[in-house]
Amino acid sequence: MFPGSLGQSLAGRALRSGLWSLETVDIRDFARDKHRSVDDTPSGGGAGMVMRPDVVDAALASVEDRSGPVLYLSPRGRLLDQDFVRGLAGEPGVTLLCGRYEGVDQRVLEARNVVEVSVGDYVLSGGEPAALVLMDAVVRLLPGVMGNDDSGLEESFEQGLLEYPLYTRPSDWQGREVPEVLTSGHHDNIRLWRLAQAEEITEARRPDLWARYLKRRNEVPGKGRADEE
Ligand code: ADE
Repeated sequence: MFPGSLGQSLAGRALRSGLWSLETVDIRDFARDKHRSVDDTPSGGGAGMVMRPDVVDAALASVEDRSGPVLYLSPRGRLLDQDFVRGLAGEPGVTLLCGRYEGVDQRVLEARNVVEVSVGDYVLSGGEPAALVLMDAVVRLLPGVMGNDDSGLEESFEQGLLEYPLYTRPSDWQGREVPEVLTSGHHDNIRLWRLAQAEEITEARRPDLWARYLKRRNEVPGKGRADEE
């Protein structure tokens, strides 16, 4: 599954040029029986299987000299957001544990100070696609990966808002026109229009982000809403 989609495009180019690297560990290599089993039935009964603490611990021990946090991809974890992604991009490295079956024995998560991270409120059949999502979000923030290092600054979430709508040529497409302000060449008006649009979209689609944005903005003196300025 790795590098999967991260072998393509922006992340793939950066991988080949050594801006980041990826090392994969097969947990089965740390199994102790001839069937290479990594899981067992849940204590207390119930459906599914649980990954054994001794096997997962041995796999983590094999990479314990790598620096940076150990994260376990799990729907029970803290939700991945851009602030957390930015923090990871500043780490020297990250170890990602991908679970299968019902999950991982709690004791090894505690013993190894593993931080649980979720990519959304839905359940995947394994942690690997979630790990790819996390890596994609982090890798694009690494220095030198994005062509223009500014291009990330105005996008969704960087200011706590969703991104404003984007347009390009042709200026008239099937009777739909590019908003006039964007072709005016008036950079202050364009900036204000984009901010007002970003605020409108965020308020309509994401009340949670909107509330946080208002709270942060009210803590910065002299900041009003874009369409009130
Ligand atoms: N593994 C299964 N579902 C997941 C999710 N939503 N986030 C992270 N890891 C997962």
